[in-house]
Amino acid sequence: HKKIKSICCIGAGYVGGPTMSVIAQKNPDIKVTVVDLNEQRIADWNDADLSKLPIFEPGLDAVVEEARGRNLFFSTDVNQAIAEADMIFISVNTPTKTYGAGKGMAADLKYVELCARQIAEVATSDKIVVEKSTLPVKTAQAIKSILDNTGNGVKFQILSNPEFLAEGTAMTDLANPDRVLIGGDQTPEGKAAIQSLVDVYGAWVPQAQIITTNLWSSELSKLVANAFLAQRVSSINAISELCEATQANVEEVARAIGMDSRIGPKFLKASVGFGGSCFQKDILNLVYISKSLGLNEVADYWEQVIIMNNHQRDRFANNIVSTLYNTVSGKKIAFLGWAFKKDTNDTRESAAIYVADRLIDEQAQIYVYDPKVSAKQMQADLNYLSTRTETENAKYLQTQTDPYKAVEGAHAIAVLTEWDEFKSYDWQKIYDNMSKPAFVFDGRNVLNQEALEAIGFQVQSIGK
Ligand code: NAI
Repeated sequence: HKKIKSICCIGAGYVGGPTMSVIAQKNPDIKVTVVDLNEQRIADWNDADLSKLPIFEPGLDAVVEEARGRNLFFSTDVNQAIAEADMIFISVNTPTKTYGAGKGMAADLKYVELCARQIAEVATSDKIVVEKSTLPVKTAQAIKSILDNTGNGVKFQILSNPEFLAEGTAMTDLANPDRVLIGGDQTPEGKAAIQSLVDVYGAWVPQAQIITTNLWSSELSKLVANAFLAQRVSSINAISELCEATQANVEEVARAIGMDSRIGPKFLKASVGFGGSCFQKDILNLVYISKSLGLNEVADYWEQVIIMNNHQRDRFANNIVSTLYNTVSGKKIAFLGWAFKKDTNDTRESAAIYVADRLIDEQAQIYVYDPKVSAKQMQADLNYLSTRTETENAKYLQTQTDPYKAVEGAHAIAVLTEWDEFKSYDWQKIYDNMSKPAFVFDGRNVLNQEALEAIGFQVQSIGK
């Protein structure tokens, strides 16, 4: 099999950037070029000031500093990077379709197809094309058809290598993956291509953790992994509502069931609901594929995970309104956190957006503090829902860069992200500056409820 000397990655986002930084760090003899159409994003990746990197991930700056300019490059010259590379990763976004057939469910593959066409047009030597993006099962067939029918007669091998990193812990996940999954054709050429990619990961991942499968198992496994993970969140969230109705405590229940080794303790934290760019879109995609194949029971089963998640967010927002005497009109409500989870600046599908939207429907004034998310991003997230005009949204949603300013005079605080710093705030000072009664709605169960109640707060958490 071929030894890889040059890699190109199309898409410098939350997956392409960190993944390629680590591949370059661990393989100093391979030239890795990450390309993107977005010029600002590439400029930010190249910024001498590492705090300007477009993605915040603990530990990312150090790896970029080590490899950038040595064998890691960020560029907007997509064609040149494709032409030079032996192996090309496609790591572009695959959002839920917003138009046409499968609207609101199917994955939009237009960006992936554009990449395939561009690769076919530019390539003048054999290439291994790696699907890094999360794709519907059978997409490799479409990519292969495009490459073979529009190319210059060179040979392409398609591999599927889904990424399992979690935002917020991307760097440790990449350095110590539970497993690396590589799918490919089970022909001699396909197996040789698989081996070339196994060698790239073999630079730091133990062989036992690198598993190889056929293409379709690999593509499908990524959707299934996200479906199972999201299902655990929706399962414990469903139980949280039952706990609230019965004086059971969801944390005690989670601990009790999590010690069963068949269940396990992780991913059993009740919350306002999961967010992030992947869980919802990948489950909708799974539901859509199942429906397309006529597997209606399978589709309904998984769709319930999304229905439960939407319900949990609505329930949280509605509870704020009913607790505040059925009106939040004109009331200041402070949000602690906007990112979909801690230690990331990613806000896609964050529960905070939906809770804010619901409360703004009730004419609440929302003041948000998040340590990593800009005011511009928050407005864009809310505008993306198209519930009302941008001017109106801007009237109701304010961003504060000082948490103590955000909560000043507020009727209620809602914790939407589990940032560690929230725990160590001066909660007495916060209490003193709030309207009374001072309510706290802890959507992440991160605050010390008893300590807050001793100060005088009225606290509501999830599932207690
Ligand atoms: P992203 O939106 O952060 O990055 C995608 C980048 O691709 C953008 O910067 C965009 O400008 C660029 N792009 C799109 N079309 C292009 C083209 N034709 N040429 C050059 N650049 C192009 O997306 P993210 O989060 O990195 O996700 C990428 C894929 O990885 C998705 O399929 C996602 O489902 C999957 N994934 C994401 C994970 C996450 O935690 N964000 C984890 C595992 C998989």
